[in-house]
Amino acid sequence: MTAHDFPSGLVADEGGMDMILVGDSLAMVALGMKDTNQVKLDDILHHCRAVSRGVRSAFTIGDLPMGSYEVSPEHAVSSSIRMIQDGRVEAVKLEGGIELAPTISRITSIGIPVLGHIGLTPQRSHSLGGFRVQGRTAASASKLFTDALALQNAGCFSLVLEAVPAPVAELITEKLRIPTIGIGAGNGCSGQVLVQIDMLGNFPEGRFMPKFVKQYANVFEESKKAMKQYREDVRSRAYPAKEHTYPISPEELKEFEE
Ligand code: KIV
Ligand code: NA
Repeated sequence: MTAHDFPSGLVADEGGMDMILVGDSLAMVALGMKDTNQVKLDDILHHCRAVSRGVRSAFTIGDLPMGSYEVSPEHAVSSSIRMIQDGRVEAVKLEGGIELAPTISRITSIGIPVLGHIGLTPQRSHSLGGFRVQGRTAASASKLFTDALALQNAGCFSLVLEAVPAPVAELITEKLRIPTIGIGAGNGCSGQVLVQIDMLGNFPEGRFMPKFVKQYANVFEESKKAMKQYREDVRSRAYPAKEHTYPISPEELKEFEE
């Protein structure tokens, strides 16, 4: 499950999630940005710290944002160290395939666990031609498999497979030693991940919702209902009622009035 602040980390942990990802999707869900490309390492670190204060038992992972790991393996290592030290998470995630294998080897060699992410990689949406399903041709499915093996060999403890046809994700999962975490990749993966506000329905009407999201609650509508009720109660003076107020003794009140 993803989380982006203290309460969303707390509820995911208390709800029994095994792993909690502070995804760069916080760009949209917490910061109102258009896509994940605008979010910086410092932004993520701030949110990682908040999440980690709410999490007691889940394994926490921080998403390395665009620009924090591609330039060189050294840069990726220092960004990963900041994630652990300043973000207080336990592992990092990064997007990409075989081209990042040397970088991942460097990060894992110093004892920082790395979660890979292939398939639809939102940080690369401009070169993917938008948010599209990946691995729909034999050639692109084979490329995914090559990438998955390279990431496993580089030391990833697990891989996110995003927006991949279910049979492709299932076959890749069967062939790997490490577990896969699917999002829009069917139930043949080892585990699943969803963006928390999507599965809770905690977003306003109009937010684009991918086909793979299942909405388990309607938190935004519930919250809006509460806002409207509060507004009505304040205007009608039904709130605050007697039980929401502090008393004063009749003697003190009398003296005050005089
Ligand atoms: O940023 C994010 O929330 C993610 C998950 C959806 C895998 O990368
Ligand atoms: Na992400």
